[in-house]
Amino acid sequence: MRLNGKTALVTGAASGFGLQIATRFAAEGAKVACVDINADGAKAIADQIGGLALTCDVTDGGQVRDCVERAVGDFGQLDIVINNAGWSHPNGPLLDVDYDAFRKVYAINVDSIFHMTHAVVPHWRDIGGGVMLNVGSTAGIRPRPGLTWYNSTKGAVHLMTKSLAVDLAPDKIRVCALAPVVSATALLETFLGGPDTPEARERFVSTIPLGRMCEPTDMASAAVFLASDEANFLTGVILEIDGGRTI
Ligand SMILES: NC(=O)c1ccc[n+]([C@@H]2O[C@H](COP(=O)([O-])OP(=O)(O)OC[C@H]3O[C@@H](n4cnc5c(N)ncnc54)[C@H](O)[C@@H]3O)[C@@H](O)[C@H]2O)c1
Repeated sequence: MRLNGKTALVTGAASGFGLQIATRFAAEGAKVACVDINADGAKAIADQIGGLALTCDVTDGGQVRDCVERAVGDFGQLDIVINNAGWSHPNGPLLDVDYDAFRKVYAINVDSIFHMTHAVVPHWRDIGGGVMLNVGSTAGIRPRPGLTWYNSTKGAVHLMTKSLAVDLAPDKIRVCALAPVVSATALLETFLGGPDTPEARERFVSTIPLGRMCEPTDMASAAVFLASDEANFLTGVILEIDGGRTI
């Protein structure tokens, strides 16, 4: 098992990519704290994998700090954090997205990483290292129209990842990002820009050289690798999980 003896915290673990990452991390031997604003969902996945369920709004610095303290208290230490929780405003004309929605998408996708960094880095300095993986997107590399403000949050996630990587390398803290292309999670219709029909999927898939959408298992495989000791010389990497979409 590739994560034997490791401890991990996954945000947005109740659904989609986070659920699959939490499941695979447990199968690879990690103890996993399943964090989500959806308390029932966090409990369901934690019960299923023998993990720790933590209800938390990642936009709230105090709640994020409490989560990290709970995970460290239960596990003894925390080795890996996956900042995966995310949201998007609806796909549509950019002037239709009001300032509240703009602030909300930044709060969930970007402020959350600020809060998590403040919460976990002092612990990682105490224990001599750690791994942070941030979930970005192909939207932050090769943006499509209709999602400008969301796209820009993922650009911020990618640059934050690289900057944290250089800042924290002396502390033996690695920081990488996963940049998936569209996947059939709860966010699918937002990214398709309309109802989930075979035609809409086909239009999207025709822009992906390998000819399919990203599966949550593709994300889990990449996350296991980047979080494991096999990747211990990799930091600041933005790994595209995109079937060639951003080439
Ligand atoms: N699905 C895609 O096509 C796609 C593509 C590229 C990137 N992403 C990114 O992948 C990540 C995961 O998304 P997903 O597709 O699995 O979506 P999802 O909606 O299935 O899962 C997101 C999870 O985050 C949780 N969450 C939302 N706001 C939260 C908050 N304030 N505090 C705590 N938890 C919160 C939700 O409850 C949910 O469980 C996001 O960062 C998203 O931007 C998704």
